[in-house]
Amino acid sequence: MGRWLVTGTTGQVGGAVAGLSRALDFDIFCPTRAEMDLSDPGAIRKAMAAGDLDGVINCAAYTAVDQAESDAKIAHVVNATAPAIMAEECARLRIPIIHVSTDYVFDGTKQTPYGEDDPVNPLGIYGATKLAGEKAIRDSGAQHAIVRTAWLLDPKGRNFLTTMLRLGGERDALQIVSDQNGNPTSVKDLAHALVSIAQKLGGKSGTWHFVNQGEASWFELASYIFKQAEKFGIRAPQLTPIPTSSYPTPARRPANSRLATHKLELDFGITAQSWHHAVDSILAEHFH
Ligand SMILES: NC(=O)c1ccc[n+]([C@@H]2O[C@H](COP(=O)([O-])OP(=O)(O)OC[C@H]3O[C@@H](n4cnc5c(N)ncnc54)[C@H](OP(=O)(O)O)[C@@H]3O)[C@@H](O)[C@H]2O)c1
Repeated sequence: MGRWLVTGTTGQVGGAVAGLSRALDFDIFCPTRAEMDLSDPGAIRKAMAAGDLDGVINCAAYTAVDQAESDAKIAHVVNATAPAIMAEECARLRIPIIHVSTDYVFDGTKQTPYGEDDPVNPLGIYGATKLAGEKAIRDSGAQHAIVRTAWLLDPKGRNFLTTMLRLGGERDALQIVSDQNGNPTSVKDLAHALVSIAQKLGGKSGTWHFVNQGEASWFELASYIFKQAEKFGIRAPQLTPIPTSSYPTPARRPANSRLATHKLELDFGITAQSWHHAVDSILAEHFH
């Protein structure tokens, strides 16, 4: 596979990709933020020139969805300008870029899962900046795989599962939104898919969706997490379903975040396990 630049390795997805690379025959170069700050185009170009690279997996992003509403400039720099520069360098070096994107490029009004070619219409700044990053990569001329994912869960870091377990330990009752639906997805499974795409990319370029199989509302997901966590001695709080309108946030979220994944299966033979199995493994690792 040669040597790949992996960004965002202090984050959930980048960290998992870096962890995997140690187990596989996969040499990676992971500059720290001090060595390659994504808000500094010169630093990106310098790190990429020095890297003797065979490809890039860009897992870094400005991911604070609500904060982005009041921090649009830096969100745009990290989510759109930086990928544009990385892709420009990739085109020059004739190496591919694999870029992680999001369900938030969609507005959630579709009644069925979103396909890769469905019309985009982000509801907030975060989604708009991620969409601009996608577009810049497509326009760069670099070989690319844009991989949209959603609803990421991991044993550590800040995600819905760890937040639920923390809040469950602090409160007797929780109110959980029940009118947003998506595909809960394991960070580790996504990392496997990203490495597999890197290995199997060949001459392909395009956009693919990766999520775990099956769908849920946040309320259904929280119910399952607490049901399974009881096996590890965790006392479940009382859960009450609420509509999104009762839980206002600075950024609007799509009501339908479901992503169709058959294109990834068809093109790369990558299949995902069910989100229930993924949550079971994540809880086992969390309580290990
Ligand atoms: N989390 C989800 O549910 C979800 C859903 C859909 C799509 N995604 C996408 O998945 C990808 C990975 O998300 P994640 O959950 O792993 O994110 P994360 O845990 O928030 O990690 C983000 C990473 O980006 C780095 N970063 C941010 N600004 C930077 C800068 N200016 N210079 C250098 N590095 C910078 C962070 O470094 P520091 O540690 O130094 O801040 C961190 O390593 C992103 O593209 C995101 O849009 C996530």
